[in-house]
Amino acid sequence: MAPSTQFSCSACAAVSPKWAGRCGACGAWNTMVEHRDLARTTSASVCSLDSVSLRDGEPRPTGIAEFDRLFGGGLVAGSVTLLYGEPGAGKSTLLSQVATAAAQSGQEVLLVCAEESAAQVRQRAERLGSIPGSLKVVATTSVEAALRAMDETGASLVIVDSIQAISSTEERAGAGAVSQIRACTERLVAAAKAAGPAIVLVGHVTKDGDLAGPRSLEHLVDTVVAFEGDRHQSLRVARALKHRFGTTGEVGLFEMGAGGLVGVTDPGRLLLDDHVHEVPGSALGVIVEGHRPLICELQTLVVDAHGERPRRTPQGIDAARLSLLIAVLEARCHRSLAGTDVFASCTGGLRATEPATDLPLALALVAGLEGVALPQGLCAFGEVGLAGELRRVTGAERRIAEAARLGLSTVIVPHGTPPLDTEIAVLRASSLLEAVELAASLVPTVAQVAA
Ligand code: TYD
Ligand code: MG
Repeated sequence: MAPSTQFSCSACAAVSPKWAGRCGACGAWNTMVEHRDLARTTSASVCSLDSVSLRDGEPRPTGIAEFDRLFGGGLVAGSVTLLYGEPGAGKSTLLSQVATAAAQSGQEVLLVCAEESAAQVRQRAERLGSIPGSLKVVATTSVEAALRAMDETGASLVIVDSIQAISSTEERAGAGAVSQIRACTERLVAAAKAAGPAIVLVGHVTKDGDLAGPRSLEHLVDTVVAFEGDRHQSLRVARALKHRFGTTGEVGLFEMGAGGLVGVTDPGRLLLDDHVHEVPGSALGVIVEGHRPLICELQTLVVDAHGERPRRTPQGIDAARLSLLIAVLEARCHRSLAGTDVFASCTGGLRATEPATDLPLALALVAGLEGVALPQGLCAFGEVGLAGELRRVTGAERRIAEAARLGLSTVIVPHGTPPLDTEIAVLRASSLLEAVELAASLVPTVAQVAA
């Protein structure tokens, strides 16, 4: 069979079997370029499924535990991982540490730096630790040069920083164009499958996560990791969004400091240490990230509106969810936030996007509106429906166990959450109104505080 020919648009990456002067998808002129599907070979050997070797599917640890857990223990030989995040998130720092740790454990590691000079990369790596001899570097923006370096070093781990800065002479489009990024990724994927190194590609995305480049690579690679965190806050969250060799949704947590990224083994403790007690408008929730329950803090600030339209400013919280909860509080709980500006945030760089954070966010809103500080040992989780009902969420047992482990005294949960043998007081509520009243009943009165 002859290699098949396709054309793709270098502006939007749309694929077409025929050449055209103008891309039918995005309307750009003279952007269709020819692709020969070289990956398609004419012969393949057949064997029985139970004789297929499983050995090469085993993950190999890099030595950075919070990174390895994303992949179920480490990187698989021949796999390609895309790690993307906003500029400044700490991708280069993380991978510098991963490269050093893997090299220290005896792996041959190659850093392909397309954005920084080799000297800059050395400076950072030296600041983060001592550099082993088996850590190699090549500063290039050419995929052909990178492939040659991979061949020469025989590296078992290759890091390409970043895929947007790499280009191939075989492509007509400029560096950074979607068709360039895809073509280079295809070449690197083919090299990983053929020679067996694990490859990690760095991709940059903008604030709204929308950059055609890295997103269009998701189906080409085996694993996709989003690396997130506010550059002004120290917590960084790495999330496995796709993983061909194991479970997805696993998270790795790091703290950025002067010595680079440090794995956070007890994030709940970290958060509770930072948690300022007795502040009106704050409530603790329990989210589940990957397989890990995490205590999070929802903070709200409710003030008189100053503009014509009240402001609703969420941070780390879904804007639609915030509006919905404000509407439910008004319609079902007699708490109106009309005429107020509302600021709401999930602290510590975490994101409260799970439905389970509805209840603590609603409690924080009521507390913010009424200027009340909720009791220190209280946390809550549960989804809020439009009728004001509280719905059960998954992982209740794990969430309650985490709250108990961290020494909290009370957790408010949706009615119907199965009974549990635990030292923490579990209060059940069937509606948001009931939960709000329960929380209010736990707030010490002025007389109690004075006594
Ligand atoms: P960097 O890894 O360059 O981000 P990316 O590759 O995702 O663009 O790191 C960005 C930030 O991290 C930068 O603002 C400086 C900070 N940083 C530290 O706080 N401590 C450190 O040890 C290092 C190396 C970086
Ligand atoms: Mg970088």
